[in-house]
Amino acid sequence: MRSILKLAALPALLLLAGCVPPDTVQPPRMIAPVLTTSDAVDTSSYAQPQEARVAHVALDLELDFAQQSVRGTATLDLSVPGKAGELVLDSDGLLIDRITDASGRKLAWRLGEAQGEKGAPLIVDLGHTPRVIIHYAANPQASALQWLSPEQTAGKQHKFLFSQGQAILNRSWIPTQDSPGIRQTWEARIVAPKPLDVVMSGIMQGEPEDLGDGRRAFRFAMDKPVAPYLIAIAAGDIDFRAIGPRTGVWAEPAMLDAAHAEVIETEAMVEAAEALYGPYRWGRYDMIVLPPAFPYGGMENPVMTFLTPTFIAGDRSLTGLVAHELAHSWSGNLVTNAVWGDSWLNEGVTSYFENRIVEEIYGAKRARQEVALDYMAIMETLAEVGADAPGTALHQPDGTESAGSAIIYNKGAAFLRTLEQQVGRERFDAWLRQWFDKHAFQPATSAMIYEDLKLNLAGSEAEAERLRLHEWIYAPGLPENVAKPDPAAFAAIDAATLAYAQHGTIPAGWAGWVSAERQRFLQNLPQTLAAEDLARLDAALGLSASGNNEELFLWLDLALANRYEPAVPLAERFLAEVGRTKFVRPLFATLIGEGDWGRPIARRIYAGTRAGYHTVTQRAVDRVMQEAPPPS
Ligand code: BES
Ligand code: ZN
Repeated sequence: MRSILKLAALPALLLLAGCVPPDTVQPPRMIAPVLTTSDAVDTSSYAQPQEARVAHVALDLELDFAQQSVRGTATLDLSVPGKAGELVLDSDGLLIDRITDASGRKLAWRLGEAQGEKGAPLIVDLGHTPRVIIHYAANPQASALQWLSPEQTAGKQHKFLFSQGQAILNRSWIPTQDSPGIRQTWEARIVAPKPLDVVMSGIMQGEPEDLGDGRRAFRFAMDKPVAPYLIAIAAGDIDFRAIGPRTGVWAEPAMLDAAHAEVIETEAMVEAAEALYGPYRWGRYDMIVLPPAFPYGGMENPVMTFLTPTFIAGDRSLTGLVAHELAHSWSGNLVTNAVWGDSWLNEGVTSYFENRIVEEIYGAKRARQEVALDYMAIMETLAEVGADAPGTALHQPDGTESAGSAIIYNKGAAFLRTLEQQVGRERFDAWLRQWFDKHAFQPATSAMIYEDLKLNLAGSEAEAERLRLHEWIYAPGLPENVAKPDPAAFAAIDAATLAYAQHGTIPAGWAGWVSAERQRFLQNLPQTLAAEDLARLDAALGLSASGNNEELFLWLDLALANRYEPAVPLAERFLAEVGRTKFVRPLFATLIGEGDWGRPIARRIYAGTRAGYHTVTQRAVDRVMQEAPPPS
């Protein structure tokens, strides 16, 4: 009896362990369409999906921390191998050993000429095989991967690895068609040394398998087709703690309490997001708080958002970041920009959605203050580059570059907020929900959202004209009908800023101000301040001791811009620990802008910190350094 029961349970157990017997019937894989219009051609990829197209990726990789390499195989299943004689993949620095078909027969392949960050096309002679197996290793310099020393972790005992795929970095460790419009399902088996745990942007399949030689194998699967930039991995000495039934957080043990407390509202955020724009379709929503070298605030890797620890302020004042990455589960991960010139479809829509979640969780006042900060950033960018600069349009035609995140994120969000204001929340929300529903698990372009808005929101040419839909998407600057921020949002703060500027009055209410208010004050202080002024501000407001990294960053930037010597050691410590590009690049740029005073400091600090930064941050700071005139 006992053994029969055991036998009956065997298939289920095998499934749980992730080792599905070969004769088990698998449900058919979801295959997402690829757009064929000219505005959906991704010039950042070599892929030619009309010829041969990857539909599923199976990775079998070992993490080699000593060599700083991942090594193994990528098995690519093609849909409609059709007429194609050749499969064109993206690759950047991959070390390819051999490529075979499913039976082990070698396939001819060649690497085309490399073009900078785009990498090189990897061209495989297919014959008629629908399955290609690539035996390879990633280069130790792979741009997506960052291998951290124990010193770069909170625990200081174990090495750590994480990847950052967006926008076109995953080709440095995964040989596939690395284009956001070519969605792929994937699975992975990852071997890692004990005691490290591995997480990925897919659902873990069963318990890790102990290989008995100091290594363990972890299995993951993503059964929904995703853009390949969303395949992500992290490995380190990490633990998990649940938040709600489908939410939880991973972090190093030393960080887990603080991380868990900061993101405790995540389950409520998922519920709020679902109430706004429809079901969360990915199963679990987990997060990992990474070491401070992580180059972004957050990255919306499906089912496993990656987060910087620098958003942990102890008071949940910077958790708009979590709302943002969660919102990408709809805008970005479910409906995805087909080309990077339409990244406002990901980031702008997400920034709008983020603010709606913030409103639900923290109330209208906080939401309005965050809108007002975002609006100020748009105005600053327009003042800097000019309201007629092509880079200030939401849609960026091929080969042009946006004027920065205030356009893609904040102007994008302002567009949707304007529509909401013009047609009313109810109608607007119904429109956005149907947009997500209709394009779920598919790529989209500016032209598609424009047509959809005309048809399903405006309803007539005249109304489309009145809403200025075309101007919002395709023209530079800010259309006249933009929804203005609430003038009351920071009225008291702006009065205090003025009082300081005119009379040197230190704001009496500072201790009771929320973070957005403090940020507003710091951003609008007079740009030129004497050392005595800075010393007095620091002493009165405790700026150097701030545990809020957004505030600390604004303070350091202000201090360095005024050549305030006492701030240099703190800036140096900050730059040695934190790799978040948003903080690191501007601080170096400010120093470089301070000529004979700042340039030597920047060069000295960067010489010590560069090796600890992710490629993304290195590239951003390298550019700042190269643009600087040579020291006189
Ligand atoms: N997807 C982005 C990060 C990204 C953008 C990586 C472009 C590579 C290329 C992520 O969702 C993001 O926007 N992060 C912001 C968060 C913020 C706006 C709340 C960040 O990192 O600062
Ligand atoms: Zn984002």
